[in-house]
Amino acid sequence: MGRWPWRDWGSALWHSLAWAVFGAAYVGAVVFVSSRPGATAGAVLLVLAAGSRLSAYIGATVGEIGLLRGFWLDSSRRMAWLEDYAASMTEHADARPPSLVEGIRFEHVAFAYPGTSRRVLDDVSLDLWPGSVVAIVGENGAGKSTLVKLLCRMYQPGEGRILVDGVDLARIPADEWRSRLAGAFQDFFRFEFLVQHTVGIGDVPRLDDQPGVAAAVNRAGADDVVERFAAGLETQLGATWPGGVEVSFGQWQKLALARGFMRDHPLLLVLDEPTAALDGARVVEVGSHEALMAKRGQYAELYGIQAAAYK
Ligand SMILES: Nc1ncnc2c1ncn2[C@@H]1O[C@H](COP(=O)(O)OP(=O)(O)OP(=O)(O)O)[C@@H](O)[C@H]1O
Ligand SMILES: [Mg+2]
Repeated sequence: MGRWPWRDWGSALWHSLAWAVFGAAYVGAVVFVSSRPGATAGAVLLVLAAGSRLSAYIGATVGEIGLLRGFWLDSSRRMAWLEDYAASMTEHADARPPSLVEGIRFEHVAFAYPGTSRRVLDDVSLDLWPGSVVAIVGENGAGKSTLVKLLCRMYQPGEGRILVDGVDLARIPADEWRSRLAGAFQDFFRFEFLVQHTVGIGDVPRLDDQPGVAAAVNRAGADDVVERFAAGLETQLGATWPGGVEVSFGQWQKLALARGFMRDHPLLLVLDEPTAALDGARVVEVGSHEALMAKRGQYAELYGIQAAAYK
């Protein structure tokens, strides 16, 4: 409400006016009852008690209405923000979605989350070749998920560019770009739908495509999860729903992975999971496993720690 103080003033004025009318009526009622011929102390007390009870009810009702109004204003403001944000995503988007022949290039990308000044990514330059599998390794909080979010055009780099086949990602319409992506995010959402839809929503036009969903479940190695549910793909997830089942974290994660595998031919498959250890928020080394091991740098050191843990 702070941004619109006039609303607060207006609301306070109406409140004062309403209570002034109520007060005047209350006093009037007491005067009326007590000045009538044959008025008793009991009748006056009754009016006083009824009046105070009434004022408590009115106060509570006004409070509830204020709360509801607050909810409504808050959600409509969020909605307006979302609409503006969606519009800003298509503002300079004049390029066609690419087919990914040359690959993806990060050019001196820097990024700080909105409302913060700390750079989560700083001067990141790297190439992602088409047809390659790239693993990003880093300490918790190093910026791996952030890099993935930028790649999915959830955020724009503050500095530098992300080029897709030489075209700035900012010029590719966000919805068209995302319709060519697939994958699972670390902070996945738990859709409490039927299993069919929880997975199928990974490719909305194929929401009800049962063989498609079964194939995605299989790709994610989630067959065991679905087999455990009595109604299979028709099982309602979430214990608060009628007939719904409780789902463990691991089961949710496998279903999220299956959702990520719904698209048969994505341009880019993103799998963001927590991994262990590297140094702060910039790409330190780039290269193949062999080259990085030969370099004996941080990658080799971390690989050594990881391998030792499995000995
Ligand atoms: N929405 C956000 N707003 C502000 N800061 C954020 C936001 N999301 C992440 N951060 C911060 O950005 C930094 C990088 O976070 P990010 O999630 O990219 O790390 P990560 O490398 O994926 O870590 P992990 O290994 O734990 O998954 C962290 O310091 C985190 O606190
Ligand atoms: Mg992460």
